[in-house]
Amino acid sequence: MAAEDTGPVRGRGVVVTGAGHGIGRALATRLAAEGAHVVVNDLDADAAVAVAAEIGGYAAPGDAASEEGVAALVESARKELAADGVGIDVWFANAGIDRGHGLESSEADWEAILQVNVMAHVRAARALVPEWLERGDGEPKGRFVVTASAAGLLTMLGSPTYSVSKHGAVAFAEWLSATYRHRGLVVQAICPQGVRTRMLQNSGEFEDLLSHDVALAPEDVAEAVWQALQDDRFLILPHPEVAGYYAGRAQDTDRWLGGMNKLQRKLEEARR
Ligand SMILES: NC(=O)c1ccc[n+]([C@@H]2O[C@H](COP(=O)([O-])OP(=O)(O)OC[C@H]3O[C@@H](n4cnc5c(N)ncnc54)[C@H](O)[C@@H]3O)[C@@H](O)[C@H]2O)c1
Repeated sequence: MAAEDTGPVRGRGVVVTGAGHGIGRALATRLAAEGAHVVVNDLDADAAVAVAAEIGGYAAPGDAASEEGVAALVESARKELAADGVGIDVWFANAGIDRGHGLESSEADWEAILQVNVMAHVRAARALVPEWLERGDGEPKGRFVVTASAAGLLTMLGSPTYSVSKHGAVAFAEWLSATYRHRGLVVQAICPQGVRTRMLQNSGEFEDLLSHDVALAPEDVAEAVWQALQDDRFLILPHPEVAGYYAGRAQDTDRWLGGMNKLQRKLEEARR
C-alpha cells in the first residue's frame, strides 16, 4: 500500500532518535498527532517504551550512534513500519549528548560526543539515502532532519566538544543537501538555543547563559519544526534571533568573536 500524499508526515513512516525525553519526545508526540507512523528510539529503553505507548507508536530502544546500533535500528524500524504498509520516509537524527568542559575535555569526551552528535548522522544517512534515491515519482521523498544546535552555527562557550560536534552536524547536513537535493532528498537542520530539557538542566553555569534570550519548551521546538516541514527550508530556527547572530558572525567575524569573548568574561566574573 502506498503512503497517502497529504503533506510531509501524514501517513509517513518516521523515526525519531533520542525520543524518550526532551525535544525528541516532543517531536515524536507532535508527528504522531499529525498522523505519522512513529518509531520511538532511545538508549533509555523504559522511556522509549513509555513514549511509544503514549503516542501509539513503536518502541525501538537502543543506541542510535554506533554502526551496529544504527543498522539494528534501521532494520527494526523498517520491520515495524512495513506492518503499516510504509517505509522509513523521515529520519529525525535527534539524539545528542554534551560531554567535556573546556580544553580539559578528555580524549574519551571527544570520542563520545563525535560518535553521537556527528557519526550517528553519517551512519543513518549511509543506511537510508541510497534507498531514498531509488524512489520513483509518486513515492514519498526521503527527508533527513538533524537536531543540531545554535552552537553549530555560532559557538558554545565552555564546550569546544559540543561546539565542534554541532558544527560537524550542520556541515554534514549541508553537504547532504548540496549533494542530493536535485534528486529529491530534503535535508533540514534544527538549530535551537536553550530548550528546557534535562540537557539544559545539566549544563550548570551555562543554563543561565543559554537561557539569556528565552529558553523554549520542547513543544515550541516541535511547533517550529512542524512549520518548517511545510516548506522544506534547511535551517530551522526555533529562536528567530539566531538568524541575526549568524548573519553577524558572517558579516564581521571579529566583532562577533569580540561579543562572544565579552560573554565569556562575564561568566568568569560571575564565578569569582
Ligand atoms: N536542550 C537544549 O537546550 C538544546 C539546544 C540545542 C540543541 N539541543 C539538541 O537537541 C537534541 C535533544 O536533546 P534534549 O535537549 O532533548 O536532551 P535530552 O537529554 O532531554 O534528550 C536526549 C535524548 O537522547 C537520548 N540519547 C542519547 N544518546 C543516545 C544514543 N546514542 N542513542 C539513542 N538515544 C540517545 C537520551 O537518552 C535522551 O533521552 C540533542 O541533539 C541536543 O544536542 C538541545
